[in-house]
Amino acid sequence: MIPINRPWIDDEEKQEIIKVLDGNALTSAARNGGKRVQEFESSLRSFLNVKHAIAVNSGTAALHASLLALDIKADDEVLLPSFTFVATANSVVASGAKPVFVDINTKDYTIDLHDLKRKISKKSKVILPVHLYGHPSDLCELNEIANQYSLYLIEDACQSLGSIYKNKQTGTFGTMGCFSMYAGKVVTAGEGGAIVTNDDELADTLKMIRNHGMVEGYDTRRLGLNYRLPELSAAIAKIQMKKLKTILDLRRRNSLLLSNLLETIISKYNIKIPEEDQIKKFNWYLYTLTFNNSNNITLRDYIKKKLIENGIGVAVYYDPPVHKTPFYERFSMNNDLQNTNWSSKHVLSLPVHPGVSEMDIQNMVNVLKRELQNIL
Ligand SMILES: Cc1ncc(COP(=O)(O)O)c(C=O)c1O
Repeated sequence: MIPINRPWIDDEEKQEIIKVLDGNALTSAARNGGKRVQEFESSLRSFLNVKHAIAVNSGTAALHASLLALDIKADDEVLLPSFTFVATANSVVASGAKPVFVDINTKDYTIDLHDLKRKISKKSKVILPVHLYGHPSDLCELNEIANQYSLYLIEDACQSLGSIYKNKQTGTFGTMGCFSMYAGKVVTAGEGGAIVTNDDELADTLKMIRNHGMVEGYDTRRLGLNYRLPELSAAIAKIQMKKLKTILDLRRRNSLLLSNLLETIISKYNIKIPEEDQIKKFNWYLYTLTFNNSNNITLRDYIKKKLIENGIGVAVYYDPPVHKTPFYERFSMNNDLQNTNWSSKHVLSLPVHPGVSEMDIQNMVNVLKRELQNIL
C-alpha cells in the first residue's frame, strides 16, 4: 500500500539520534532549549526568513501557545475554518476562547473572505486561517481585514511548510505562524511543531509558555505547559530540514506529473485538480481532487474504495468537518457553512510524497481512469 504520506528517513537521521543517545542529554528545560532544538530552530528561521522560531512538541502545542501568548480571554472569539484538522479548533477551545466557524471557498478550500467579514463581531480577537493541503490562504486580504478590525492573524501553517504566497513563505505573514512536524508532514520530527514570529516580545513570551511559564528556576510568571521538543525529535527535524528543498522538488514533480496525466479525463468526468497561480505556490503536501459530479455524491466514496483496494492509500480530509463532529455541534449555532459541507463530500487526496515513484503515479491514474469508466 502506498500511504497518503510517509516520512523520508535515512541514515543521517539515524546517526543523529545515536549521537543524542550517546550524549545523554535527551531534553533540556533551559530557556533556549537543547542543542538540537536550537539547531532546528535556526534552520527553520533561515528557511522561512523570519526573526524567531520557537520549537514545541506538536502543531497543536504551537497553536495553543500562540493563543495563550495573546492573553486570550473567555469571552473572546477566534474565527477559523471548520474544514481543517480538529486540532485547530481544539487549540481555540483549550485557550478558553470561542471558536467561530467560517466557510471556505471552493477554489482552494481556504477561508472565505466574505463569510469571514460577515462573522466578525465586537468579541472577535483573532483570525486563524488554515493553509489547507498546502494551499496558501488569501494572506494579503487577510492582513488587511485583520488591520481594519484590529484583530490578530495567526496562521495555521501546519500543512504548508514551503508553500509560498507572493514570493514569501506562508506562516510569516501573521503575528505568528504555527507549524507541525507530525510524522506525515512535509518535514517530520515524529511529533513536533514550531511557532514563528518577527515580534521580539512574543518570542520571549512563547519561550516561557513552552516551559511552564518559567524564566529562570521556578519563577513562574504566566500560564505555560510542558511544550518542550525533546532532543531526539529535534535531531530528526534538524536533519529533515537539510532535505526540505529535495522533498519539495519531489512532491512538485509527482504532482505536476499527476496533473499532466489527468488532463485528458478531468473535463469528461467533471473532476477539478489543484492549480497554482501567479500568487500562490504549493508545497504539495496533499494533491486533492474534487469530484464535482453532484448528481452522484457517492462517486467520491466509490473511487476512494477502489483506489484503496488497488493499494493506493487515498484519504479524505475532512469528512466530517469539525463543526459536524459531536463535540463541536454545540459551537455551530447560526453557522452557514455550505461550501464546507459540500467539499467534505466531494474531495479526495492522493499520495505525492517523495516515496511515490513516477510509475506509482502512472498506476494511480490508470486505476482511476478504469474505475471511472466502469461506473460512469
Ligand atoms: C491543519 C492542521 N492544524 C493543526 C495540526 C496539529 O498538528 P499536530 O498533529 O502536530 O499536533 C495539524 C496536523 O496534524 C494540521 O494538519
